[in-house]
Amino acid sequence: MIRNFLTERLGINYPIIQSPMASATTPAMVIAASEAGALGSLGAAYMGPDEIRSAIREIRRSTKYPFQVNLFAPQKRYSLTDDEVDRATTPLRSIREELGLADRNSVPEYKDRFSDQLQVLLDEEVSIIGFHFGLPDDDDLNKVKTAGALLIGCATKVSDATALEKAGIDFIIAQGFEAGGHQGTFRSEDEPSMIGLMALVPQVVDAVSIPVIAAGGLMDGRGLAAVLALGASAGQLGTVFLSSPESKAHELHKRLLLDGARDGTRVTRAFSGRPARGLINRMMNELDVIPNGILPFPYQHSLTTEIRAAAGTKNRPEFLSMWAGQGANMSRNLSTAEIVNSLAVELEQVLKRKN
Ligand SMILES: Cc1cc2nc3c(=O)[nH]c(=O)nc-3n(C[C@H](O)[C@H](O)[C@H](O)COP(=O)(O)O)c2cc1C
Repeated sequence: MIRNFLTERLGINYPIIQSPMASATTPAMVIAASEAGALGSLGAAYMGPDEIRSAIREIRRSTKYPFQVNLFAPQKRYSLTDDEVDRATTPLRSIREELGLADRNSVPEYKDRFSDQLQVLLDEEVSIIGFHFGLPDDDDLNKVKTAGALLIGCATKVSDATALEKAGIDFIIAQGFEAGGHQGTFRSEDEPSMIGLMALVPQVVDAVSIPVIAAGGLMDGRGLAAVLALGASAGQLGTVFLSSPESKAHELHKRLLLDGARDGTRVTRAFSGRPARGLINRMMNELDVIPNGILPFPYQHSLTTEIRAAAGTKNRPEFLSMWAGQGANMSRNLSTAEIVNSLAVELEQVLKRKN
């Protein structure tokens, strides 16, 4: 057991948070992580309100330990010009054809379900709520504060961390450039964050007076010990859990991680329109080089939804978004509980080491 202010407030045994991962976390993963002494987290951003409700109830049936539910804060809407849509749909034409999908020159509607999703979290009295992509508006923020939930926000730079503290958030994730999945930049049009975890954590720790959680590229106890030494109160790990049996990542994604994803990872906007780090594949290579060929989030996400679904069904990893952090090659063939147990043992070993 490694205790500090954060572990006491969250009610967990270890300073370890299993990342909420919208496309990959399952109730089974959350249950296993929380039962093992970490904070299990459900990435609920892409789930409908009813699905979130039943997931929360499923988690509660199997564990009495705390867990987090995480949502994407609502995003600014744009009106797209025909020219923008044309520039984004044209490069996808040949990919759609390869996957046997009909041609499309419009963007499917993206339904923002944030209010309904948040209402479920309030109805179900979720006690730890996380937001990615900044924060919701003051009304919604006040609702969760009044409900007494502990709040977690994500910063990729110091000024965002101080803004989160000012808004009354309880814990701040300092997310380094190494991180897998979407960067927590506040606005879709923000430049991808380039600050690595080693530089970011101490600066955020110095700038705020609330506990900081480090995220990005952490895969074992050595990384966890390092971020604790930099002043973080916990580490949040995503990629290491992606290859576990409890993850709903595509089997080919899991296999590439476990085989040691040799081509490495890169930050891309190709799949969703927001910067996100994933295993390098053909879709990224083809779209990333086209100037103005990618729509802002969430429109690019809508535009590529059918492609990603068909690529999954047809086992075509070259068109899947296979999010992963820079530590991807350190993935392990273990269950969620085994990963938490190993991380805790390794962390204690490193902390006890004298040199
Ligand atoms: C597949 C995947 C999906 C993710 N989805 C979310 C999400 O829904 N909400 C969120 O706050 N962070 C999300 N993240 C980012 C994680 O919270 C965290 O910052 C990241 O996993 C840390 O880097 P690592 O993957 O190298 O451990 C996601 C990460 C991955 C790998």
